[in-house]
Amino acid sequence: MNSLDNIYQQFEEKEKQTLLGGGIERIAKIHKSGRLTARERINLLLDPDSFNELDKYVLHRATDFDIDKQKITGDGVVSGYGKIDGRMVYVFAQDFTVFGGTLSRANADKIVKIMDLAMKMGAPVIGLNDSGGARIQEGVQSLAGYADIFYRNVRSSGVIPQISAILGPCAGGAVYSPAITDFIFMVKNTSYMFVTGPEVIKTVTHEEVTMEELGGAMSHNAKSGVAHFTADNDEQCLMMIRELMGFLPSNNMEDPPMGVCNDDANREDEKLQTLVPADPNKPYDMKELILSVSDESVFFEVMPHYAQNIIIGFARLGGRPVGIVANQPAMLAGVLDINSSVKGARFVRFCDAFNIPLITLVDVPGFLPGTTQEFGGIIKHGAKLLYAFAEATVPKITLITRKAYGGAYDVMSSKHIGADVNYAYPTAEIAVMGPAGAVSILYRGKLSNKQKKEAIDYYRDTFANPYKAAELGYIDEIIYPKQTRRKLIEALEMTKNKSLANPPKKHGNIPL
Ligand code: HXC
Repeated sequence: MNSLDNIYQQFEEKEKQTLLGGGIERIAKIHKSGRLTARERINLLLDPDSFNELDKYVLHRATDFDIDKQKITGDGVVSGYGKIDGRMVYVFAQDFTVFGGTLSRANADKIVKIMDLAMKMGAPVIGLNDSGGARIQEGVQSLAGYADIFYRNVRSSGVIPQISAILGPCAGGAVYSPAITDFIFMVKNTSYMFVTGPEVIKTVTHEEVTMEELGGAMSHNAKSGVAHFTADNDEQCLMMIRELMGFLPSNNMEDPPMGVCNDDANREDEKLQTLVPADPNKPYDMKELILSVSDESVFFEVMPHYAQNIIIGFARLGGRPVGIVANQPAMLAGVLDINSSVKGARFVRFCDAFNIPLITLVDVPGFLPGTTQEFGGIIKHGAKLLYAFAEATVPKITLITRKAYGGAYDVMSSKHIGADVNYAYPTAEIAVMGPAGAVSILYRGKLSNKQKKEAIDYYRDTFANPYKAAELGYIDEIIYPKQTRRKLIEALEMTKNKSLANPPKKHGNIPL
C-alpha cells in the first residue's frame, strides 16, 4: 500500500509537471518572442495569490494524426477565477506552448465552464488569447467548441463585461470570439489578428502583405477599428485591463464602483474660460476640457488611434465612473463621419448596458458631406449613433461648448432624444447650419458682398448662439466654462436615481 508520503509526493510531482505546459524549450521560445506564458500573464493580471485554477488535469481525447501520442495536462488553456482589486473575475489564458494554444474539444469545455460560472455568479470574463484557432487534428469537434464559446459570448453580452486581450498570433475562431466581446487589447509587435493569414491571402487574391500590416496592433487600432487599446508589452496590457475593470460593474444589475475622490467637486478652472476660441473656425483640443473636469485628470481613453474626430473613454466625476463621448474640433473640425459614428455608437451602448452615465461634449459642424461617405452608408452608420443615444436609459448629461449644427445637434444626446440635463457655454452655436452656409442657401447669389456679410452677422446674432435653444427649454442652463466640473457633478448627483425603461420588446433593430 502507498504511504501518505508517497501519495503526496506523487501529487506534488504532477502539479509541478502541469506548470510546464509544452515544455521548457517552448517556454524559452515564447519569452524570446517578447511574450509571457499563460500562467505568468494570469499572475500579473490578478491580485497576488488570488487565482484558483480549474481543470488543471484536463487532457484532449482526440486520436487522429497520432495526436493521442501527445497529451499535455491542461491541454493548452489555463482557466479559473481570481480577483482584480478585490473583485471577482473569471479568466482563461491560452497556452501557446501546447499545440499553439489551439482550441480542442476538451479545452473549449474548460472555457465554456468558466463562462457559465461567470454568468451564474455575475462576474466579468477576461480572455487572454494566444492561439492558432481551431486545432486542425480535431476537425469539427474544435469548430463545435468555438461555436459553444461564441454562443456564450452572445448570451453574456450586456449581462457581464467580457474583455479580450490578444497576446500572440490569433487566427480564425481565436479572433471571432474576441470580436463579440466588449473590448479588445493588443500588444505592439507580438499580437496579430486575422481571419486568414498572409499566405492564404497570397494564394487567393495574389496580394502580398506582412503579418504586421495585415493584423498587427496598429492595423487594428488605427485602421480597422477592431481593437480598442494598444500596449507596448504584455505587462502593460495586463495593467491596462486592471485599470479598465475599475470603471466597470461586475454585471448589468450593479452600478459601477464608486472610486475614492480626493479631488474637490467644486474646483473651478479659469483656463477653461479661454479654451473655446471666439473665432468659430479655430480648433482647440477637447481633451483639455475632459482632463480638466475629470477627477485627478484621469481619462481612460478608448480607441485613441481610430476616428480621432470623436473621443470616447472612461473617467470619474466626484468618484462616480462615467462614459465620455466628445466631438474633437482639433481633428476634422469634430465632424461626424462613418467611423466616428460607429465608434461612438458602440461605446454608448456599452455604457448603457452597464449602468454607466453618459457625459456628451458637443462641438460638431454636422455630418461629413461627400460621395465616399454617402456610398459608404453614412445614413445608416450615422443612424447608429442616433439610435444608441436615443435608446440609452442611463443618466445622460450633455454640454454644448460651441457648434451643434443640423442633424448632429439632434444626434449628440440632445434634450429631444432623452438627455436629462443639457448645458451650453455662452459660446455655443445651435442652428441648422453654420452662418455662411445658411446665407448662401437662403439667398443663392442674390446678395452683394456687403449684404452677404450683413446677412451672416444677422444669422449669427439670431441663431448662432445658445439663447434661442435656452428660450425654448432645449438647453436647461448656460454655464461659465470654469464651472464645468461642478455642474457636471451636480447633474450626476441629481440623476443618480434615474429609473427609466424602454418599452418591452425582444430587442430593437439597430441599423447594422
Ligand atoms: C494545430 C497548430 C495550429 C492549428 C499552429 N499549430 N496552428 N496545431 N492546429 N490550427 C501548432 C504548430 O504546428 C506548432 O506546433 C505550434 O502550434 C506553433 O505554431 P508555429 O506555426 O510554429 O508558430 P508561429 O510561427 O508563431 O505561427 C503561429 C500561427 C501559425 C500564425 C498561428 O501557426 C498559423 O498560421 N496557424 C494556422 C492558423 C489557422 O489557419 N487556424 C485555423 C483557423 S480556422 P509545434 O509542435 O511545432 O510546437 C478556425 C475556425 C473557427 O479557427 C471558426 C471561426 C468562425
